[in-house]
Amino acid sequence: MWVPCPASPIGRRSTILFPIASAGTPVASTTGAVSPATAKTHTITLLPGDGIGDEIMDATVKVLEAVASRFDLNLSMTSALMGGVAIDATGEPLPAATLDQCRSSDAVLLACIGGYKWDDLPRATRPETGLLALRKQLGLFANLRPAKSFEQLEGASSLKDEVVNGVDLMVVRELTGGVYFGTPKGIDTDPSTGARVGYSNMIYHDYEVQRIARVAMDIAMKRGKGVVSVDKANVLEVSQLWREEVIKVAADYPEVDLSHMYVDNAAMQLVRWPKQFDVMVTGNLFGDVLSDCASMLVGSLGMLPSASLGDGSGPGVFEPVHGSAPDIAGQDKANPVACVLSAAMMLRYALEETDAADAVEAAVEAVLNAGWRTGDIMSAGKTLVGCKRMGELLVEAVSAGGK
Ligand SMILES: NC(=O)c1ccc[n+]([C@@H]2O[C@H](COP(=O)([O-])OP(=O)(O)OC[C@H]3O[C@@H](n4cnc5c(N)ncnc54)[C@H](O)[C@@H]3O)[C@@H](O)[C@H]2O)c1
Repeated sequence: MWVPCPASPIGRRSTILFPIASAGTPVASTTGAVSPATAKTHTITLLPGDGIGDEIMDATVKVLEAVASRFDLNLSMTSALMGGVAIDATGEPLPAATLDQCRSSDAVLLACIGGYKWDDLPRATRPETGLLALRKQLGLFANLRPAKSFEQLEGASSLKDEVVNGVDLMVVRELTGGVYFGTPKGIDTDPSTGARVGYSNMIYHDYEVQRIARVAMDIAMKRGKGVVSVDKANVLEVSQLWREEVIKVAADYPEVDLSHMYVDNAAMQLVRWPKQFDVMVTGNLFGDVLSDCASMLVGSLGMLPSASLGDGSGPGVFEPVHGSAPDIAGQDKANPVACVLSAAMMLRYALEETDAADAVEAAVEAVLNAGWRTGDIMSAGKTLVGCKRMGELLVEAVSAGGK
């Protein structure tokens, strides 16, 4: 059995109870005929947000209810307001009540936020500002972006099928440090030449590197036990420190096979032979670029989940990579799979319900194998369904069993 390391955000305390209410009206109810004395219990805050959020969250909650029933889990799922809907209701994208509710949960499942309606608001009150504030307030320093190819979606990637078929990697990106936040930074005038000068500071403290390295190692232990740390240690002092600190942390994980790669080579290897990677861990800037590159190995936005984790003292946030897709909102055209796979990540990494996570992922495979497709992943010979029907099919597949 896997045992989480001290100070690890993975495998944080286990949790408490039940299903969903509409946004902003928390209501608790019990999942199935499970004895509270014996059932595992977890509290989850649901943030359906805007655009297609309600549609994909509805589908995902039903999948979670099905998996809870199959594995005797008690899930306490309560909705809260976040994003544009929160602005309309309260004037703020992240109301204090929502933040409090998130803080007292074991995990947060977010669908998506934003939309045309709120695009012209001042930056401080826009939906996206609420999302950044949520990540900051919860201290989420690790961003996890898996890239797993689905053979059923042949042709979805811009790369050749033989290169992407079988890809199953995880990019672990440091989210709160590095050059995006380092000081000093600014745009000034060089007093000696009069030339304009812009500068940012790529800086990492040892503890920042150690904690993200630990996240990567913990995840690798739940996967293929391989970590590639990406840096630019041949040029940058900050990367030298990065490499040294990652090596120190790896000493606690003798089973993990750690190697190092320069970022330029990593970019090339990602498109040359991505199957060589299990877990890739890297800093904020390199991770920003490489995680987008990795996600495109698998094709559609509607299939891509993600997670942001902190130090384990609060909940992680699990969310699709995509936005609120206002162009198809309310039309039953959205693909709920990215949200459903985000829920699977939540089961695996926050709630430690590995069998349930496996079952949800297997259900996605089964539904794709049977030829069902939403519009974004539709191809010749397959059967087109809407968001609601796709959700029902996933529920049927979860309930039917088979891992
Ligand atoms: N984390 C978030 O909530 C998040 C992330 C990105 C963008 N946004 C916001 O979302 C809004 C729309 O942004 P955008 O159009 O640039 O990006 P988007 O991801 O919402 O949409 C891009 C394209 O992908 C399609 N798409 C996205 N998700 C899909 C799904 N699940 N199923 C089927 N098709 C899907 C959309 O229809 C659209 O054509 C903006 O307000 C933006 O700020 C939010």
